[in-house]
Amino acid sequence: MSLPMKRLLIALSCAMAALSAAAQSTPPDDALYRALGGTPGLTKLMADFVPRLAADPRIGEFFKETKLSELQKQLVDQFCVVSGGSCVYEGETMKNSHAEMKIRKADFNALVEVLQESMDRQGIPFSVQNRLLARLAPMHRDIVNTR
Ligand code: HEM
Repeated sequence: MSLPMKRLLIALSCAMAALSAAAQSTPPDDALYRALGGTPGLTKLMADFVPRLAADPRIGEFFKETKLSELQKQLVDQFCVVSGGSCVYEGETMKNSHAEMKIRKADFNALVEVLQESMDRQGIPFSVQNRLLARLAPMHRDIVNTR
């Protein structure tokens, strides 16, 4: 191999090493996802949360026609995405899926309370709970659609 060719190859491999180092030094922020126990943790959380939601005396009625196993799956994917995990959420937007349901602020708050209880039951630390809730809170704009 000619010297210029050798130099070119060395330069190329240095550039590639630099690129992969840069990729490693800026990982995606999945800290919250990991704090929630990753997909296994979220799967356990939703397995507790969804049945309790459906049984809740305040808002259980909303879920009487819902296929709970499907909702559970969508929620695992959605919470994975929201917390920074590398999942794909294939469900509807929050606006479309809750349109026409006449959800009030009080209903939204009741759901958040059930979620907090489920997170307590899973031993999720308070600070982690709050970080998740902070990411969910803005969704009320698309979900709450009546007074
Ligand atoms: C932060 C709050 C909430 C989040 C993150 C959330 C998330 C979701 C997701 C991901 C779905 C599945 C969408 C799909 O299948 O494509 C869904 C469906 C549903 N949500 Fe919510 N939701 C929230 C609040 C509420 C509230 C407050 C209620 C009522 C009290 C509610 C009632 C429902 C019902 C009944 C369905 C099922 C619709 C069906 O049967 O297809 N949600 N929600």
